[in-house]
Amino acid sequence: MPGVVALRRDGEVAVITVDNPPVNALSQAVRTGLVDAFSQARDDKTVKAIVLTAAGRTFIAGADITEFDKAPTSPTLVDVIALIDAIEKPTIAAVHGTPLGGGLEVTLGCHFRIAAAGTRLGLPEIKLGLIPGAGGTQRLPRLVGMEKGAAMILSGDPIPASEALALGLIDEIFEGDPAAVGIAFARKVLAEKRAILPVSRRDDKIAPLRADPVKFDAIVAAHAKRARGLHAPTAAIEALRMNLDVPIAQAIERERAKFMELRGGEQSKAQRHIFFAEREAAKIPGLSKDVKPREIRRAAVIGAGTMGGGIAMCFANAGIPVTVIETKDEALKRGLGLVEKNYRASAARGAMANEDVDRRLGLMTGAVGLDAAKDADIVVEAVFEEMDIKRDVFGKLDALTGPDTVLATNTSYLDVNAIAHTTTRPSSVVGMHFFSPANVMKLLEIVRGADTAPEVLATAMAVGRKIGKVPVVVGVCHGFVGNRMLRARSIEAERLLLEGALPQDVDGALTEFGFPMGPFAMSDLAGLDVSWRMRKAQGARAEIADQLCEMGRFGQKTSKGFYLYEAGSRAPRPDPEVEALIVATSQRLGITRTPLDRKTITERLIFPMINEGARILEEGIAQRPGDIDVIWVYGYGFPIWRGGPMFYADSVGLPYIRDRLIAFAKLTGDKRHEPAALLSRLAKEGGTFGGLTAKAA
Ligand code: 3HC
Ligand code: NAI
Repeated sequence: MPGVVALRRDGEVAVITVDNPPVNALSQAVRTGLVDAFSQARDDKTVKAIVLTAAGRTFIAGADITEFDKAPTSPTLVDVIALIDAIEKPTIAAVHGTPLGGGLEVTLGCHFRIAAAGTRLGLPEIKLGLIPGAGGTQRLPRLVGMEKGAAMILSGDPIPASEALALGLIDEIFEGDPAAVGIAFARKVLAEKRAILPVSRRDDKIAPLRADPVKFDAIVAAHAKRARGLHAPTAAIEALRMNLDVPIAQAIERERAKFMELRGGEQSKAQRHIFFAEREAAKIPGLSKDVKPREIRRAAVIGAGTMGGGIAMCFANAGIPVTVIETKDEALKRGLGLVEKNYRASAARGAMANEDVDRRLGLMTGAVGLDAAKDADIVVEAVFEEMDIKRDVFGKLDALTGPDTVLATNTSYLDVNAIAHTTTRPSSVVGMHFFSPANVMKLLEIVRGADTAPEVLATAMAVGRKIGKVPVVVGVCHGFVGNRMLRARSIEAERLLLEGALPQDVDGALTEFGFPMGPFAMSDLAGLDVSWRMRKAQGARAEIADQLCEMGRFGQKTSKGFYLYEAGSRAPRPDPEVEALIVATSQRLGITRTPLDRKTITERLIFPMINEGARILEEGIAQRPGDIDVIWVYGYGFPIWRGGPMFYADSVGLPYIRDRLIAFAKLTGDKRHEPAALLSRLAKEGGTFGGLTAKAA
């Protein structure tokens, strides 16, 4: 038997242990090992019960995703679970860590499931563009009911052991060694002569739905609405529906066929790319393993505005005490008041218990004056975006804080190196660029300055992960990675208005592409005045946006921007006044308006971003194409099922993108559209962005 699965005896109980680090994924060797071990234990008459456990940090966390690009091999997971399901001796899965996906499906083949306190159980396949492919869509609802089963499968979110117990997904929560507790549980089952019924033959929670199939539609309706452009949710709903009228063996076969179809499809490939890119982004080439992050016991956030409040919430949510600092008492009260309002709203929605709100607020202290930052291990500055103010703040922090304090700035555009040099220790300074709303958005750009010490960089990354973000290292340049590429898109969006499109055409093209919102609806939401002020400071101009601002149309906050908003509504309505303004502007500038189709609009918006991404790679501002993809998926709503801009570029084909960019450069006279050297080279050589990482690895 392969070493990844071990079978041992403890009296009349057989104990099967999976040991396949790091997460006990169900590789072919593990599946084979499970078949051998379960068959042996089944056939041995002296074995009265079988316990399944796993070694290391977690129970089986799912199928081995690295095998998904290869041809399937036997035995399949369906075979493994069918074998376990048919065993007529009590089978017990004693789990810990994160039994996920195929890992949870294996436990659903057992008669009993017990979980260590702190275990999180789930079927996250949907997040990889898949559906459970080894009976999960049929067995889970039989155990926990359709409402919860569908929610788990369609959200992919794991649930804590306490909830799993309440739902009947597990039979007990334990403390201690899974194998030892599993054996004791098995003996209890034997002693009590408990009835054993495979999950596949339970029917009590599904039978009522069969009599009332309309209820099924109601249960899945909300999820179906959120599926926008994704194939997996539709497939999952179809598979769940089979619980009502398809015999389970046949339903599992059909579920498997659908799983295999999705596995081979473009969407799941893109989502798997993001899964691995996110993990890759955590690695910093050249950073020695000996570099250890500093311990962060206390944080301080400077500025309690839009960003400061959200950033402080991130620390409190992770259990790190945080001091929020303002210049005046009123600003502090306003900022902290907003934080409290935010938390209370979460509690009112049922997303958080009132005690959690109190605990988190209890971790926050407000203060006026920078002195209060002196004991912090990390300070995140989120004051106005003005160099003089930042300079003043960093100069003072330098004098106030200890030599080991990490000094971070949340600047969006300013030069992190220049900020660092306002201190006597530029090596302690790093950028931590959060995204709004900071307590919600997962992306965190970690800006590595020219002098940032490896230990400071490692600390910023570790803190980022601790507060639940996806940190990605970027270099210093105007707008770093995300905003720099966004700028390329924004310039083009304005230009399209002048050439013949209307805001709804541009936004429509991007929502059809899969973004949750187009650039103009987004500007209306953020407020047009913010970028207007910035453009004025730089002496730059955006024809349409500037005129709207001059008319006092700042977006949703004034009920008018690129669109009209009715009182109390956030739904953008096209405005004839804006259309007239756009047409008149084109005319004034001597531009002949021509209709633009959606494909052209999409290419005009996305390809320049890809071109900018290529330049970012050339300059070493991003470490790898996958980092750019992670930034756009987690920070800017790029559809995950397209894998981010650089992955998408590879799927479209680089020669086509190069040729289109050359055409755009001719059409607009904008030199920025000329293909970046890296893009041209790859297109010429038949290379891909993805290939760059593969070569580097
Ligand atoms: N297959 C292959 N490799 C996996 C894996 C999997 N299912 N899950 C994690 N890994 C790898 C990661 O790539 C990473 O590799 P690296 O060290 O080389 O970068 C390593 O294991 C550790 O992973 P994390 O860094 O993510 O470790 P964490 O402790 O932060 O998280 C986890 C652990 C919660 C298990 C997380 O890795 C995770 O969510 N994994 C994916 C779980 C999943 O999606 N399972 C379903 C798979 S699909 C399926 O089961 C189909 C079935 O229905 C037929
Ligand atoms: P904001 O204007 O909402 O808040 C800034 C706060 O800083 C104000 O409450 C102000 O009173 C306070 N402040 C100013 N000087 C101070 C000082 N010397 N000491 C203590 N507090 C001081 O601004 P916002 O939007 O929160 O931006 C803050 C920073 O975050 C800027 O650098 C901005 O570029 C960056 N950022 C903003 C994003 C956004 O979407 N708003 C996104 C990412 C970064």
